[in-house]
Amino acid sequence: MSLKSASIYGEDYGTSKFKFGPIFLGDAPEMVDNRGYFPTPSKVLSRVSGEEEREVVVGHGVWRYLESKEDLLNLIYPMRNGVIRRGDEKAWKVVKELTRYGLKKHAPKTSQQIFRGFYVVAALAAQAPKYMYEKIFDVHQEIDEEEGGALINSVTIIPQPLAVAISHKAVTCVVIESGHGNTQITPISRGVIERAIIPLNRGGSDANAVTAQILRDAGYEDLAKEEKFVTRFKEAIGLLPMDLDRAVKKAKMEPERFRVKYRVEGTTIEVDLEKDSWQRFLIGEYVFDPGHEVFSSYYRRGFPKPRDTYITGEETIPGAVSLVDVIIRSVSKCPVELQPELYKDIILSGGNFMWKVPRGLEDVAIDSETKIKKMFEKRGLVGVRVRAAKNPQYSVWRGTIVYGLYLPEDVVWGWGSMEGWLRLH
Ligand SMILES: Nc1ncnc2c1ncn2[C@@H]1O[C@H](COP(=O)(O)OP(=O)(O)OP(=O)(O)O)[C@@H](O)[C@H]1O
Ligand SMILES: [Mg+2]
Repeated sequence: MSLKSASIYGEDYGTSKFKFGPIFLGDAPEMVDNRGYFPTPSKVLSRVSGEEEREVVVGHGVWRYLESKEDLLNLIYPMRNGVIRRGDEKAWKVVKELTRYGLKKHAPKTSQQIFRGFYVVAALAAQAPKYMYEKIFDVHQEIDEEEGGALINSVTIIPQPLAVAISHKAVTCVVIESGHGNTQITPISRGVIERAIIPLNRGGSDANAVTAQILRDAGYEDLAKEEKFVTRFKEAIGLLPMDLDRAVKKAKMEPERFRVKYRVEGTTIEVDLEKDSWQRFLIGEYVFDPGHEVFSSYYRRGFPKPRDTYITGEETIPGAVSLVDVIIRSVSKCPVELQPELYKDIILSGGNFMWKVPRGLEDVAIDSETKIKKMFEKRGLVGVRVRAAKNPQYSVWRGTIVYGLYLPEDVVWGWGSMEGWLRLH
């Protein structure tokens, strides 16, 4: 392995999770919340405990600072739908410190090892504007200077869906990357087909919103306010129905089989949805088809409808569009000759596709892959091939590593080609 190959380091900036680490981690990167805490200066305790005072705290230890509800206000999640506003200083500060946290943590500690700095491959959302690329380059440059000029050798940036395609060795495909904040629908034929990208405003955070509503309706108002709890609860009990109407009917007929009784780990708190346990099917369905009839009563009660997506060319994608309809819409923007080829390889990636099928519920609950296939069949499109990424939450990171291996060392970053290494030394 060349020195360059051994020094590849990947970064996937997600709305809820930052995945990072060097090539030798193999299939699984390190993962922390993409957030930072800005301590108020008067925290006497941190001084007593001998910790150095920092403007922003990131990484695994952030929870130690969250003492009160007020502290949550000092907690910044820098990204919305994968994007950071240009002038959002605090958000960029968080990104910088998270980036530094990862790189320093994984830099070789001994001087015996030959190391000339990491070859960093960062992945951003497909819809990330150009200034985000510039900022990400700047952030790395600054970190390298501040850390003595030996941490980073070169940097490159790729769109997340392209990373997914690369990690699956797919040349012609449609990547559906669904994370916490957004779902990017990206047809790829050698490169990203830019005019066909649809960055849908929908992600795991919307499944969280449905989950919170269900909790509120069942009388767990306080728990519904705690985002972290809602996420955990959703991942534990949320289900994706093969057919929503049939699933709900069955669950109402056999309430005990579908009953949600959830004990909050390490506490005495228990959530029991009792006769309303059928609602767990709404959580998964909402991600795939928020336009389903069943949700209209939610919207009437003031539950916010998923937001429309505006894309260039004055096109509006309605927020409640079904996932399959939006894939069809995206593919239809590609040359007709290419379209059948694209339908032969649809790759699902991102944590928002990790719906589980609990034992004993296989007759009604399904995985994301099967769901999409069924939805296509309903639209009369047969022969569509759908596959799920091997590790849905890690596939972008895995792709950054593979991309770094393939990108020759002497290709220099160009703003026209959006490809190549930006050398820092
Ligand atoms: N088993 C599961 N069932 C349902 N949802 C899950 C499961 N595991 C993780 N998720 C959801 O996946 C989302 C996180 O996925 P991911 O890490 O891909 O997002 P991200 O990269 O942070 O966000 P984005 O790509 O939108 O910027 C969260 O909403 C999380 O709750
Ligand atoms: Mg992501």
